[in-house]
Amino acid sequence: MILANIEDYRTLARKRLPHFLFEYIDGGAFSETTLRNNSADLQTIALRQRVLRDVSSVSTATTLFGKEYAMPLGLSPIGIAGLNARRGEVQAAQAAEEAGVPFCLSTVSACAIDEVRAAVNNPIWFQLYMIKDRGFLREILARAKAAGTDTLLFTVDMPVPATRYRDMRSGLSSGTILQRKITRARQVLMRPQWAWDVGLFGRPHTLGNIAPVLGDNAGIDEFWSWLAQNFDPTVTWADIDRIRAEWDGKFIIKGILDSEDAKQAASIGADGIIVSNHGGRQLDGALSSIRALPDIADAVGNDLGIILDSGVRSGLDVVRALALGANFVMIGRPWVYALAARQKKGVREILDIFKNEMRVAMALSGNTSVNTIKRDSLVNL
Ligand SMILES: Cc1cc2nc3c(=O)[nH]c(=O)nc-3n(C[C@H](O)[C@H](O)[C@H](O)COP(=O)(O)O)c2cc1C
Repeated sequence: MILANIEDYRTLARKRLPHFLFEYIDGGAFSETTLRNNSADLQTIALRQRVLRDVSSVSTATTLFGKEYAMPLGLSPIGIAGLNARRGEVQAAQAAEEAGVPFCLSTVSACAIDEVRAAVNNPIWFQLYMIKDRGFLREILARAKAAGTDTLLFTVDMPVPATRYRDMRSGLSSGTILQRKITRARQVLMRPQWAWDVGLFGRPHTLGNIAPVLGDNAGIDEFWSWLAQNFDPTVTWADIDRIRAEWDGKFIIKGILDSEDAKQAASIGADGIIVSNHGGRQLDGALSSIRALPDIADAVGNDLGIILDSGVRSGLDVVRALALGANFVMIGRPWVYALAARQKKGVREILDIFKNEMRVAMALSGNTSVNTIKRDSLVNL
């Protein structure tokens, strides 16, 4: 199969993964309107074609929070991404490092932060949810700090989890634990390659960062119920303010979609925000990230680093987001499809695809450096 773009990796991931795992990655909340709009709205943004500008040398390199990256693109945190290939988060973090872009590990990753950190040369970014047990929250933070993490993404758009119909239907989230295990086992048998690579040799199948409170023998089902009980719906800006005061590294608030919230993020001293709707997995019917971006950039563009995720599927989309005020862009599903399809090399390949697409889009819109991509790189229709 020829893999030319992200959709091709998605198709291959569907063939390689047990049904419940593919549906977990691919799906969104409720009727998936926001999920669809995230990508569809990006496609409606017209890039402005410019000609005869000597584009023989185009650089995608950029700086974010004082660090240089090969392009303004990073890997968003994805829960249990490590089950998409053997010790999957380790492979993805290595691919990101080789490509010169940041990798962010989820709180609910399969591999623990120490395991991932030991497999790469430089510290990785870490994402945290508000957990009811503040003592445990601080322990995780201390572990991230000890692993050298200097950039913390604090996710705020999930005080309660949304319903995802696909997860109910696939056997991931509905039925008794026994029913779920049987349904999933059947699906695994239909994917022998995954069963061998991940099922057999990718153990343990636990959530590495949470394992200290549940013990190493607890399985995915026990972990999900722990999470359901331990995510904290009482969280407010005062809690975030306290964590900000305790964390001496870069502090990025993930899941901002409204300019008033963006201003509040600036006022508590965040270094940046991620304009995101969790890839359409939380408030279905919310604005797409790209439509939310211009207002937010107008409100806080001079005060905060602005990162956008949700729906980005090509280097052209990255240019569109930069033009509308983002300093950096992140991708979730694309890197997981690639990991499932072709392990670490798949992640390397899609990062090359993004970079090449970005370079071409920049050249054809008359931009030789990331800094010149502004709103006038778009057609105002
Ligand atoms: C399967 C899956 C799991 C996710 N898990 C997390 C998570 O653990 N923490 C988090 O902050 N965001 C999580 N997200 C949201 C992503 O970090 C990111 O915001 C989203 O995937 C971006 O949209 P995209 O997939 O369209 O690129 C998850 C998204 C997906 C698809």
